[in-house]
Amino acid sequence: MCGIVAALSRRNIVPILIEGLKRLEYRGYDSAGIAVLNGRLQRLRSTGRVVELEKIAVGLSAPVGIAHTRWATHGVPSERNAHPHVSGGVSVVHNGIIENHDAMRENLRGKGYEFASDTDTEVIAHLVHEHLRHGATLFGAVRKATDELQGAYAIAVIHESDPELIVVARHGAPLLLGLGAGENFAASDASALIQVTQRIIYLEDGDCAELSQSSVKIVDASGRPVERQIHISQLSAASVELGQYKSFMQKEIFEQPMAVANTLEMVTSANFVVPELFGARAAQIFRETDAVLILACGTSYHAGMVARYWLEALAGLPCNVEIASEYRYRESVPNPRCLVIAISQSGETADTLAALNFAKARGQENSLAICNVPESALIRGSELRFLTRAGPEIGVASTKAFTTQLASLILLAMVLAKLRGRLGKQRESEMLNSLRHLPAALTRVLGTESQIIKWAEYVAPHRHALFLGRGVHWPIAMEGALKLKEISYIHAEAYAAGELKHGPLALVDQDMPVFAIAPNDELLEKLKSNLQEVSARGGKLFVLADQHVKFSDGSGVEVIRMPDHAGMLSPILHTIPLQMLAYHAAILRGNDVDKPRNLAKSVTVE
Ligand code: F6R
Repeated sequence: MCGIVAALSRRNIVPILIEGLKRLEYRGYDSAGIAVLNGRLQRLRSTGRVVELEKIAVGLSAPVGIAHTRWATHGVPSERNAHPHVSGGVSVVHNGIIENHDAMRENLRGKGYEFASDTDTEVIAHLVHEHLRHGATLFGAVRKATDELQGAYAIAVIHESDPELIVVARHGAPLLLGLGAGENFAASDASALIQVTQRIIYLEDGDCAELSQSSVKIVDASGRPVERQIHISQLSAASVELGQYKSFMQKEIFEQPMAVANTLEMVTSANFVVPELFGARAAQIFRETDAVLILACGTSYHAGMVARYWLEALAGLPCNVEIASEYRYRESVPNPRCLVIAISQSGETADTLAALNFAKARGQENSLAICNVPESALIRGSELRFLTRAGPEIGVASTKAFTTQLASLILLAMVLAKLRGRLGKQRESEMLNSLRHLPAALTRVLGTESQIIKWAEYVAPHRHALFLGRGVHWPIAMEGALKLKEISYIHAEAYAAGELKHGPLALVDQDMPVFAIAPNDELLEKLKSNLQEVSARGGKLFVLADQHVKFSDGSGVEVIRMPDHAGMLSPILHTIPLQMLAYHAAILRGNDVDKPRNLAKSVTVE
């Protein structure tokens, strides 16, 4: 949801800002802009990608500047709505949503301010300008302005009359500082600064900071000066670069064996699982737990749905899985002994954070975050935590984050089952053994790519597709459908296969490709009957089946054999072909798989 980068140095910072924006493009990519101070305020903006901005910024040079890549919320994607926004000599970039912008707009209009855009951000520029006019310093003006803002923001502000300073502030949207030698930076995430520094300060909610070339001054929400810890970012340039791959999504699909191996590192050489994998107080909290509530959105929600099957079957714990944006507005019945699990790749998803806070406010205080980003708001706001170690996920469509979430969730189910006396030594050691073999099994599934490409060629010209699964593979069918629609723009729906005859079967004809996940489990025979219903209506079936299961190719049925049957881990393996199917269908349709239309990676708005 928008990316911000700001820099202040003795050298020309324009290339640093452009490079930073390119790394932040996953957060939004419908327009980009830059404002610099080089004797005067100069602003350049363009619609579309950062490369368009780069073209018009050739020859621009300055020691101080702010830049932005946008995911439109207020106002269509256009040059006039692109950031930075200006008011006199003030220029502002903003990530988030200002909820009281209408009232402020009226108020500022009354004071003679004119608005050049439809954005909520422009009120911030005018507000800061207004406070400067009344004699505040730039820092004071930003503090006063943010006091009046309701909603979420991360902002960076420069002012023509203060060419030595950048002021930044955050509340409810991520922002960090990067410390250099005789130069300082700010950005939405550390990847934007990887080229200039590894020394990072994560700002807390309510913080406001003033950056000069040689100093950083931070105050907290109450205005008290504070020292925030300096972290050394572990991000490597290679982890955010494409290398041999054509797109980040392709790279991230193929990184999954390594990502899962890294996530499971702490248990693969162990003979048993321990609650402390999830935090120092985990044993005590897990012992108090008599139910689980999972909160998440999108792909992370699908991980939660898979986890429900595992938690109920293995640990015997009742489990509810809720779409975060729905849960937070529902009068559900709280249970203080419930463990609330928030699952999020980014750890910044506004709906998930708000749902977690809502659950806590209702007396459900035991929380666990499963997240891929250390120092994210979710990690900081949860009692217990498990970091998936997928590495930076840059493609907008979540891939390796999902499979690493599943790997963490099966561990959690094992730990809870063990504490509840439901996981004997033998079973524990068998499961650990399967986890040890999981990365190799994932590599073998990636080997089905050439067969998947044929399926992709079939589906690419179609407008609709159905995905079917049963039991724990139903959420995997949902994930397959989500992947296909978000990057190929083919309308796809997923159903629990038994539901087909209750309505969606009416959609099936020769133009409706139907993809079925058919592992060799206790539901296989039931699923086969459901698939007969499809064949009988002329539907074209594509089946992911295990070796040695009787499924014959031909007469409207195509079968790809999964190299391994992984028992309980089977949903993790079955995800991979569906990711590859969506990827290749999107490529065949000429789409930008990393930046699908209308979407952004971190959804930091409601
Ligand atoms: C789909 C996708 C989204 C995210 C969702 C939640 O490929 O990436 O559905 O899963 O926006 O994001 P996180 O996991 O960051 O909370």
